[in-house]
Amino acid sequence: MKIKSKIKDFEVIFAKDFNFINEFLQIEHYIVIVGSNVYAFYKKSIFNKFPKDKLIIVKLGEQNKTIKTVMKVYEKLLEQTAKKNLTIISFGGGISQDVVGFVSSTLYRGINWIYVPTTLLAMADSAIGLKTSLNFKSYKNVLGTFYPPSKIIINVDFLKTLPKLNYFSGVGEIIKFYLMKGNAISDLDNTLKKIEKLKNNKNRQEILNIIEEGMKIKLSYMEGDEFDTGRRNLLNYGHEFGHALEPASSFRIPHGVAILIGIIFANVVSLKRGLIDKKVFDDLNKHLLVPNIPRDVVNIKKRYFDKDLILENMKKDKKRIGNDLVLVLPQKNFSLIKINNLGIDEYESSLVELRKIIGV
Ligand SMILES: NC(=O)c1ccc[n+]([C@@H]2O[C@H](COP(=O)([O-])OP(=O)(O)OC[C@H]3O[C@@H](n4cnc5c(N)ncnc54)[C@H](O)[C@@H]3O)[C@@H](O)[C@H]2O)c1
Ligand SMILES: [Zn+2]
Repeated sequence: MKIKSKIKDFEVIFAKDFNFINEFLQIEHYIVIVGSNVYAFYKKSIFNKFPKDKLIIVKLGEQNKTIKTVMKVYEKLLEQTAKKNLTIISFGGGISQDVVGFVSSTLYRGINWIYVPTTLLAMADSAIGLKTSLNFKSYKNVLGTFYPPSKIIINVDFLKTLPKLNYFSGVGEIIKFYLMKGNAISDLDNTLKKIEKLKNNKNRQEILNIIEEGMKIKLSYMEGDEFDTGRRNLLNYGHEFGHALEPASSFRIPHGVAILIGIIFANVVSLKRGLIDKKVFDDLNKHLLVPNIPRDVVNIKKRYFDKDLILENMKKDKKRIGNDLVLVLPQKNFSLIKINNLGIDEYESSLVELRKIIGV
């Protein structure tokens, strides 16, 4: 798949095996950057193939998706003899992508990088997003750049080792794509079947098809608005509340699961405003949204839903323009609109409703 971008065009390659590693070994000047978790899982099968001096292993988590981690990586890269001609290869999930993408876009005003996503969320969603983001203090994703890798290599075999919690995070984002597709509601049975197949994680080709479909939906919203000033904003559906909930749960609720909860929140607001039908609202909650919040793997605690803390976090939303809150809402035929007048009372009553729906 070739993807056009105003910054630079790039390609997505769907790989059947790990032979692409041999191609990496042929690159004249490269460095591999990987988080310590993914390194441990694939040390024998992948990372031992690279000479030790070509490997940088970093500790990566939401708490260290920061400029501090970026600075540590700069130090190591500045020691390299190769400069602007260096290619960075990143293996990992969205956090890896964000950190390594930020490094690649800023060092020497931009060097080549290749990204191998290893989580479902990164494969279906973040990899093609062009964005790099860092957290700053309690502000999530507030530093960043637009800078795609030159190549994204997707091999779904990485998903075999992905913990269930993180797998569900990807399922959450994919559900969002299906809701944004337009016919997801009229075609709810079909959507449910696909999500079941995805959760089953058995058939390689089925998972690939779903990932590709998700990517295409995302690309259709990015088209003509790569820099996120208009239509692309709608991809933020579920994210205003979700992003606020993540830190309120000390990141115990993973990104995509927080997004699913954020989607329910947005739907509650839509229902209260008379924008969507009660039947659609109930059907979605019953069949698609609530069942995909995996309570057996993520312990959703009452205290994560602190009214004041979530509100404080929502106020930090970088897309906010006035005193009220911004929110992407579904309307009648599930076309989305962005509002910037969510009042505080409306927020509070919707939060109460949301908690009833998910039972916390
Ligand atoms: N830049 C963007 O456009 C964009 C878009 C969406 C999300 N994000 C960001 O992505 C981050 C979430 O990314 P994520 O969900 O991919 O998670 P992640 O990068 O945090 O990875 C999740 C966990 O799984 C481990 N892991 C990764 N791949 C593995 C594998 N194959 N086997 C075993 N363990 C593996 C990681 O070490 C980590 O512990 C968030 O910080 C979010 O803000 C960025
Ligand atoms: Zn997201």
